[in-house]
Amino acid sequence: MEFRHPIVAAPMAGGPSSNELARAVASTGALGFLGGGNKTAARVAEDYRSVAASGDVGVNLFVPDAANTAVDVAKSQQGRAEKLAAFREELLPFAQRLGVELPTVEQAGADVSDDWEAKLEAAVEWPIVSFTFGLPGPELFQRLHESNTDVGVTVTSAAEARNAADHGADFLVVQGPEAGGHRSVHDPLGVPETLELAELLDAVHAVVDIPFVAAGGIMTPEDVHKVRAHGASAAAVGTALLLTDEAGSNALHRYMLRTDRSGITQLTRVFSGRVSRSLVNELMSLDAPAVYPEVNALTVPIKRAAIEARDPRSTHLFAGTGYLQARTGSAVEIIEWLASS
Ligand SMILES: Cc1cc2nc3c(=O)[nH]c(=O)nc-3n(C[C@H](O)[C@H](O)[C@H](O)COP(=O)(O)O)c2cc1C
Repeated sequence: MEFRHPIVAAPMAGGPSSNELARAVASTGALGFLGGGNKTAARVAEDYRSVAASGDVGVNLFVPDAANTAVDVAKSQQGRAEKLAAFREELLPFAQRLGVELPTVEQAGADVSDDWEAKLEAAVEWPIVSFTFGLPGPELFQRLHESNTDVGVTVTSAAEARNAADHGADFLVVQGPEAGGHRSVHDPLGVPETLELAELLDAVHAVVDIPFVAAGGIMTPEDVHKVRAHGASAAAVGTALLLTDEAGSNALHRYMLRTDRSGITQLTRVFSGRVSRSLVNELMSLDAPAVYPEVNALTVPIKRAAIEARDPRSTHLFAGTGYLQARTGSAVEIIEWLASS
């Protein structure tokens, strides 16, 4: 896999990675991405068809636990229902305040597949796919290679990088702790690596010889230059695109990124059961169990209602550590500026 442009638009499911953003990014020659997580396969396939003519666009998929070789099945099942029931109780005051009903624990666990098999079938038409949240087995890499799909894996440690390369990854996205949104720690129960991005890039560089892209806190041309000096083929930017005209970031998210001048972001499991980085709010005072995607299903009605009501206390406000430097304007302008290093 060759990166012809120094910038990649990091995938951002849940709205920000709109088709408009992917088209604008691809039109500059940079690699655009669609966030394929939490959507049906049919929808992702349709989105891809509507952006494909603009240039290079990859599709990012969430690896479900059932396909993730890093999951310790016995451990991850331990006390799952009880932990979810206790967490659901803690969510009730938030639900009541917003006037929404929460699903039962059974309902929250009814479909944990994220339409994975159908997405893999659709992937034969996608030249570039990246996986986050886990590492599928080598046979899946082989299957995608048969349809000439280049396959990337987001990794957060040197050990994950080595395993991904061994399984057949064509490229890696090395995600540092600075990154906004979810961290792609492969073991859902795992403690995220704390090495800052530049050091993590060096650690990965020492153990793999496939191309890698850097992600996490990259906000300026100087940041792009720095990660390339540490061996990255390209810089993946997420937060730097959240305020662009084409991003599908919701109005509350945009407002909070522009007005919360604290500069503080924190890691939390509360929004989904997996670790993510967000601006700080009241919901984050709760402790959620490491049970993905059920915790996500439980919190969805609260997050949606909060966005609708423009109530920043109880929804995810994903942001990387560099969010104070996020700029408004067109994605083309920002990509060209970032690439000017
Ligand atoms: C709002 C938001 C949503 C995200 N959603 C995804 C996703 O669907 N898949 C994924 O692999 N990473 C996701 N991420 C992580 C980004 O792909 C990327 O690693 C991160 O944004 C890089 O750090 P930065 O935000 O400091 O640029 C998301 C990040 C944000 C901010």
